[in-house]
Amino acid sequence: MTRTVNIGLIGAGTVGGGVVQALKRNGALMASRLGVRLRVTRVAVRSLRKKRDFKVPQSALTTDWREVVNDPKVDLVVELIGGTTTAKDVVLAALRAGKPVVTANKALLAFHGEKLFAAAEKSGANLYYEASVAGGVPIIKVIREALVGNRVTHLYGILNGTCNFILTKMNEGMEFDAAVKLAQQQGYAEADPTLDVGGYDAAHKVGILASLAHGFWVKPKQVYTEGIEQVAPLDLEFADSLGYAIKLLGIVKTSKPGPVQVSMYPALIPDDHVLANVSDVYNGILVRGDVVGDTLHYGQGAGRDATASAVLSDIGDAVLDLKHGSTDRLKAFIPHESNGAVRPIEETTSCYYLRLSVLDRPGVLAKVSAVLAKNKIGISSVIQPEGHEGSSVPLILMLHYAKNAAMQKALKEIRKLSAVKAKPVMIRVENFA
Ligand code: NDP
Ligand code: HSE
Repeated sequence: MTRTVNIGLIGAGTVGGGVVQALKRNGALMASRLGVRLRVTRVAVRSLRKKRDFKVPQSALTTDWREVVNDPKVDLVVELIGGTTTAKDVVLAALRAGKPVVTANKALLAFHGEKLFAAAEKSGANLYYEASVAGGVPIIKVIREALVGNRVTHLYGILNGTCNFILTKMNEGMEFDAAVKLAQQQGYAEADPTLDVGGYDAAHKVGILASLAHGFWVKPKQVYTEGIEQVAPLDLEFADSLGYAIKLLGIVKTSKPGPVQVSMYPALIPDDHVLANVSDVYNGILVRGDVVGDTLHYGQGAGRDATASAVLSDIGDAVLDLKHGSTDRLKAFIPHESNGAVRPIEETTSCYYLRLSVLDRPGVLAKVSAVLAKNKIGISSVIQPEGHEGSSVPLILMLHYAKNAAMQKALKEIRKLSAVKAKPVMIRVENFA
């Protein structure tokens, strides 16, 4: 073993600290597998005074990321600070200096992927991002490498560990705010947790997967996004009694050549479906290829060690590329679909769960049904649970397949009915057809 690759780490918080610890634990094993020694040579952090649960020599630490990127000894830069501003400068500076970059930063890729890939292409250094989607689940490798011989027709993914953890805890009776706090304490949440609960983080991830699967870069604004804030404990209860679980579900699907649905919203999924049983911080992704059929990928979707494992996978790839002098064995992203387009949400079709808060008096259901019928939306079942007292009571309707545009129109009309006392809660139902 003659070669050593020196790693410059920018950011040593939850994930970065995990990378240092994991390299300490398994660095020798990786070296024997890769034939290259790995050494964390420089580390940039925000505060030199913060207590850390790993050791690096004091001389390796700095608060100036440029010192790390520009250090001639640093061969490989690992960006783990998050955000889309400084992180972008870090990645561009490293690539322009001809140094390969590993990042876990899905927001950065979602917003600036095309610019970063162009910089990588120009510099001849590569950009690796396994940890950006689904924590420890090697889903990027699966789509880019293992399924290279398939057209991905459908992809369904539970892609945000924090939201899945929160929904699981709410199902167990915990309040939403307490569950968010716990996710933060466990190191699962983003620095700004509204990125998680608002569905944005998961939308960035599903955009990355859709881009890789369909060969054109999907921008964040093209991903129809809803978060989990509107999901109430009542909905989890009703869904359960109807035989469903509620999950924040990413969908990438196309039934024929043409626009691709790329969305992230909470969905009712049948509780005998394998994804219904993906709980806590775990992520699960079902990928349907036209050759392979259904494949399932499961593992911890956030957290220190799981994410560190994905970063190590990229470090392994980067190190082998450095060792063999191959910068384009697997480029960061290769566009291969010039006509690629995203299907607007209005044109997509699904079934629906609708929870209304209505006056408890005769004739209300008939009025709601009339609006739905006018919009050509069929009702498959109705529940008016007993035991709810007060000026308004819940009315639950399960609706047949309809275009989202029709559903949105019906919702507006239903909201105007005098018997409907609050904004209707509509959650789509996914049957994985
Ligand atoms: P943390 O907030 O725990 O860590 C961020 C680190 O970056 C800290 O060490 C911080 O320094 C350092 N830092 C921030 N700004 C600067 C700066 N300008 N210069 C130098 N250092 C800086 O974040 P995470 O580890 O949780 O997340 C890092 C990235 O990984 C994000 O992109 C996130 O989306 C992604 N990710 C996170 C996962 C998770 O489970 N947490 C899973 C998958 C991806 P200091 O320690 O001094 O404050
Ligand atoms: N906040 C993210 C999540 C981290 O909870 O999934 C992993 O990307």
